[in-house]
Amino acid sequence: MDKYIVNGGEKLSGKVRVHSAKNTVLPLLAASVLTDEPVTIRQIPPINDVENMLRILAELGCVITRQRDSAVIDSSNAASHEIPARLTKELRSSVFMLGSVLTRFHRAKISYPGGCDIGLRPIDLHLSGLQRLGVEIVEKDGYIECEAGKLKGADILLDFPSVGATENIMLAAIKAEGMTVIRNAAKEPEIVDLQRFLNAMGAKVRGAGGGTIAVEGVKRLHGVDYTPIGDRIEAGTYLIATASCGGEIEVEGVFTENIAALLHKLRENGCKIHTKNDRIVLWSDGRLKSVNLVETMPFPGFPTDMQSQYVALCCTAKGSTLVVENLFETRYRYVAELKRMGADITVRGRSALVRGVEKLHGASVTASDLRGGAALVIATLKAEGQSSVMDLSYIDRGYADFEGKLRAIGAKIKRVRV
Ligand code: UD1
Repeated sequence: MDKYIVNGGEKLSGKVRVHSAKNTVLPLLAASVLTDEPVTIRQIPPINDVENMLRILAELGCVITRQRDSAVIDSSNAASHEIPARLTKELRSSVFMLGSVLTRFHRAKISYPGGCDIGLRPIDLHLSGLQRLGVEIVEKDGYIECEAGKLKGADILLDFPSVGATENIMLAAIKAEGMTVIRNAAKEPEIVDLQRFLNAMGAKVRGAGGGTIAVEGVKRLHGVDYTPIGDRIEAGTYLIATASCGGEIEVEGVFTENIAALLHKLRENGCKIHTKNDRIVLWSDGRLKSVNLVETMPFPGFPTDMQSQYVALCCTAKGSTLVVENLFETRYRYVAELKRMGADITVRGRSALVRGVEKLHGASVTASDLRGGAALVIATLKAEGQSSVMDLSYIDRGYADFEGKLRAIGAKIKRVRV
């Protein structure tokens, strides 16, 4: 198990280019089994979630060829409809396989998915959406078994704009007979990218990015060579780190409209920000003022995946910030670790009141989920003295070369084997 040793208190400055978005690459990989022609996905981030998804594809019978940062997935000989339980436990996004495997084999078997423990994370919306398309579902012994003689288009209203459910239903509807309409669909940029990818394969999907997505079933999909959008959460993490520590950073590779809610808050905090196309330049003197309230919301609201990193910034901002987490129930587990560094935070249910302190001090802290782990790193970069961040397996799920990119902008961070 690796850990980081961080010597805090440095200003950050330089350029970071983000990788392709984890949350796009995962559903794209799931979608690659929709065709028996080769699918090439470029700029794949070398992160554990992606590696686990590729392992799942390989176990279904896909042949994967890696070329530098691309992967070619050839699923012409894919034969299995069972998503292996051992990998499902590692990766929540394995649940996206349901829609595409159902389209390919008309049946699918999966155990309840795992992933970061940040809340209950039910999949009822996925399953009821699939049922509306004609899928019969039996849940027994921790497994979900799905059968669909014929998938049929339907009008589906989601009770909540779930990202995963929207993607799963899109994938299951792609060759269904007739038209599927998904109402109250998630609007995240990753959904728009999935639509673009599917249409490049010959699908007929429209409306992504709005609340209603229409999928007209097609008979056949073909191979594609595709470069996904940049990772807005990765971009936001480096922006927040620099905002908190002070300095100047240029982040390349993410469209600014995809990260507007965070930029809005950082400007209120006192950062100066310039944007152009896929570049964001942020300057901060490291002495930020608090904003009153930050509430996580589905896109285009403030993303839940930025909540932890933003709380790390609030710890040393002047004044108090009320943070409300509306998506995941247990997304404040990292707070106890921030308190070990001198942060003053009170958590009550979904709310955290962060009272800014003069400074944080170095400590030994342990990550317990992906974004919470990133928050701890940001706090240790800001803190005076030396810190260690234990259990990097969570951070490795979603950040490619995190320490390398941070070192390139002046952070004193190194990875060591424990
Ligand atoms: C995706 C992202 C994750 C992000 C989240 C919210 C990927 C791989 N992961 O996760 O990083 O934090 O969106 O932006 O893209 N819900 C139900 N029933 C369901 C499905 C969801 O009640 O069947 C609830 C969840 O418990 C949660 C909310 O809906 O409260 C949002 O979840 P959802 O949008 O589905 O998140 P994920 O797709 O799991």
